[in-house]
Amino acid sequence: RTVYVNGEYVPENEARVSIFDRGFLMADGVYEVTSVLDGKLIDFDGHAVRLQRSLDALDMVNPISTEDLLEVHRELVRVNEVEEGMIYLQITRGAPGDRDFVFPDPETTEPTIVLFTQNKPGLADSPAARKGIKVISIEDIRWGRRDIKTVQLLYPSMGKMMAKKAGADDAWMIEDGYVTEGTSNNAYIVKGSKIITRALSNDILHGITRASVLRFAREAQMEVEERNFTIDEAKEADEAFITSASTFVMPVVEIDGVALGDGVPGRVAQRLREIYLEESL
Ligand code: PDD
Repeated sequence: RTVYVNGEYVPENEARVSIFDRGFLMADGVYEVTSVLDGKLIDFDGHAVRLQRSLDALDMVNPISTEDLLEVHRELVRVNEVEEGMIYLQITRGAPGDRDFVFPDPETTEPTIVLFTQNKPGLADSPAARKGIKVISIEDIRWGRRDIKTVQLLYPSMGKMMAKKAGADDAWMIEDGYVTEGTSNNAYIVKGSKIITRALSNDILHGITRASVLRFAREAQMEVEERNFTIDEAKEADEAFITSASTFVMPVVEIDGVALGDGVPGRVAQRLREIYLEESL
């Protein structure tokens, strides 16, 4: 695989980052994941806008223009022959040459930028999407700026492990009784034909897939309600699903061992997945 590090395309085993990098020492960095279908980037513009928003929120300098970033994405897809998969992008505050809680001077310390591709054949025609996934609920003990896409992913990673241990696929996080989001995705329930999902705030990541899916839903005259919902309401819903760049729209068929509806992917979730895949290509 060829990867991109600080302006250069190099074989992955030749890529180097300093041990003083603040991404490594302090999780002082942000990231984006953009999916690739048929060799094409999905929702690139949305990811580029959110990247800038995350950088601004952390007073971090953007080392690359959106045009150049698009070019790097396209070049990596081309040289690595990615038909279906993902591109991971990470920007950290760089390596000041020592460990210090104080941010380094951006005049002397440049950000570190890294991109690599991941081939994922079967991303669109996924067996999981046909079966639906199971989720468990866990407490949301993350920090208060979940709208910033930082590389601080230890708790989401632990959440996935808790799900795995419980024989499930993912975890939905609960705060004050209400579902915030999945470990790496946004959460939705469906009652009748109404799609319900938490409104945007600092409590959740502003999903790029979420924005597209809600737009397509409204264009298809489906009713959307952006409000909090409890885990109990979710267990009584007709359907549930998640969205993210890596899963698109993925039906949820079980929450904490309780089957939703008939325990198979719901009609609204399936239709939204079809619409999303069609419209995005
Ligand atoms: N995760 N919520 C969280 C906490 C996420 O980490 C993600 C994305 C989303 C969905 O955002 P989007 O639709 O823009 O992908 C919601 C990525 C895919 C990841 O960490 O791999």
